[in-house]
Amino acid sequence: MKPKITFFFILVCSIVIYSQANEQGFISAVISEKGLDFIKELLVTKAISSIKPLQLPQIEKIVKIPSLGILRVVFSNITVYEVNVSSSHVKLGETGIAIIASGATCNLSMNWYYSYSTWFSPVEISDKGRASVQVEGMEVGLTLGLENQGGTLKLTLFECGCYVKDIFIQLDGGASWFYQMMVDAFEGKIGAAVEHGITKKLTEGIIKLDSLLQALPKEVPVYDAAALNVTFMNEPVFSSSSLTLEINGLLMKARKAIYSNYHHKHRQHLASCNDLPKTLGILLDEAVFNSASSVYFNADLMHFIVDELPEQSLLNTAGWRFIIPQLYRKYPNDDMNLNISLSSPPVIKISENKIDGSIYADLIIDVLESNQVIPVICISLEIQGSGLVKISENNVVGSVKLKGFTMTLKWSKVGNLRMFLIQPIMWTIIQTVFLPYANLHLGKGFPLPIVHGFTLQNAEIICSSSLITVCSDVIYEESLNLAKLSLFSQ
Ligand SMILES: *[C@@H]1O[C@H](CO)[C@@H](O)[C@H](O)[C@H]1NC(C)=O
Ligand SMILES: *[C@@H]1O[C@H](CO)[C@@H](O)[C@H](O)[C@H]1NC(C)=O
Ligand SMILES: *[C@@H]1O[C@H](CO)[C@@H](O)[C@H](O)[C@H]1NC(C)=O
Ligand SMILES: *[C@@H]1O[C@H](CO)[C@@H](O)[C@H](O)[C@H]1NC(C)=O
Ligand SMILES: *[C@@H]1O[C@H](CO)[C@@H](O)[C@H](O)[C@H]1NC(C)=O
Repeated sequence: MKPKITFFFILVCSIVIYSQANEQGFISAVISEKGLDFIKELLVTKAISSIKPLQLPQIEKIVKIPSLGILRVVFSNITVYEVNVSSSHVKLGETGIAIIASGATCNLSMNWYYSYSTWFSPVEISDKGRASVQVEGMEVGLTLGLENQGGTLKLTLFECGCYVKDIFIQLDGGASWFYQMMVDAFEGKIGAAVEHGITKKLTEGIIKLDSLLQALPKEVPVYDAAALNVTFMNEPVFSSSSLTLEINGLLMKARKAIYSNYHHKHRQHLASCNDLPKTLGILLDEAVFNSASSVYFNADLMHFIVDELPEQSLLNTAGWRFIIPQLYRKYPNDDMNLNISLSSPPVIKISENKIDGSIYADLIIDVLESNQVIPVICISLEIQGSGLVKISENNVVGSVKLKGFTMTLKWSKVGNLRMFLIQPIMWTIIQTVFLPYANLHLGKGFPLPIVHGFTLQNAEIICSSSLITVCSDVIYEESLNLAKLSLFSQ
């Protein structure tokens, strides 16, 4: 079964949020009944059927036949090939998950050998050949516990069992008396060897799966500037039809939290995907986006110089002749540029069916005179926008539209300005420069912490009070190579 059994768990882990003690995480993942089914299918098909080829220890038996002699029988090279599972179920308990595969079948091949010597003749009779065995009506059950251990998920195997119902043996050659004897004497032994072998393999698989979970990073890089804190918070919550995991979900810069001032809220009612038959719900608190905004702001990534405009005349003092005459008089026909920097992190507010954003920026008008950059005017802007988000691959991507803005003069080296004359120019600059720039960045999106190999599909987004809920199905790429598992896709 290998570590494959774990995909599901990784998936689970990859989507959750954090909180310690009673704090709540800012991202949580709700894996619906449909999602659990998806995981179960992965586990069962990838794990149980990848048990093969499974080598079982050799079986040897010495039978004393009274007044006749001694029969020594050896089965070696016992190999399990295909394991097929016809139906399987997953059930959630209060602290764990039970997976039951029933009606499983498998086939084995083995070498047989016997030697027979009698009391009265020193001549030994022996024979050997191959046999194939068909095992049917096998039941395999696992009970797993999942808990939060210091911010990582710990997977424990409570129980693992395998029960073999029917065995059919077919000998390749050999005498018929031997066949009958073997069926009678060894069916049980072969069944027990299969049960033991599969249980052992599954146990090893769960241990590997657990170590994969333990090895999940606690932070996931988000482009260059930041990392998403994917520390698990609180215990996983099991209900009869879903599993909820929480992760911290805030962005941090260079290993230190810089927005530790977010207050953990206690949400009474989580938004859910109840009406949508989706595999997975990912709940993102608005604090996630505001933490991203803080990180980018603090990383000094939110300023830029404008030296090209659709209306290029606005980058020469001559273009401002009638709007700020004193600027033109002081610096006639000089080129200009605009130095725009955010003065505080943008604030994102999520409410019922809408997202609003406020951007606070200072716009400095520089005059370029004989290789010198002379800042002459600074205008503070407060821009109100409305946002749209959608899912592209595994990213939440956004765009913003202008709702309105206010402006105030912060300082001026050319005296007082008639702000109402500047207003339309600012509008143009915001529309043609500022928002396209912002949208370029927002378009790159915010990566959801989804394990590599899994992709969201047919995602829908629901905005509710301070929460964005992504309801989505998940597809899994067969090509996933566990050996090269890079845990999070970006
Ligand atoms: C053991 O079984 C495998 C697979 O059936 C076979 O290829 C191999 O030759 C066998 N080995 C021996 C020693 O019989
Ligand atoms: C497993 O299922 C496949 C497809 O249904 C079938 O061809 C194969 O014979 C089955 N193998 C066993 C061991 O039952
Ligand atoms: C086991 O079943 C598979 C699929 O039916 C078949 O290809 C394979 O030859 C079988 N192996 C043995 C040893 O019976
Ligand atoms: C990540 O979140 C956990 C849980 O809230 C917290 O204990 C830890 O300090 C955070 N890590 C960083 C680097 O902020
Ligand atoms: C842009 O303005 C900021 C102050 O808001 C200043 O620190 C920065 O040096 C200016 N950049 C350029 C290239 O003039």
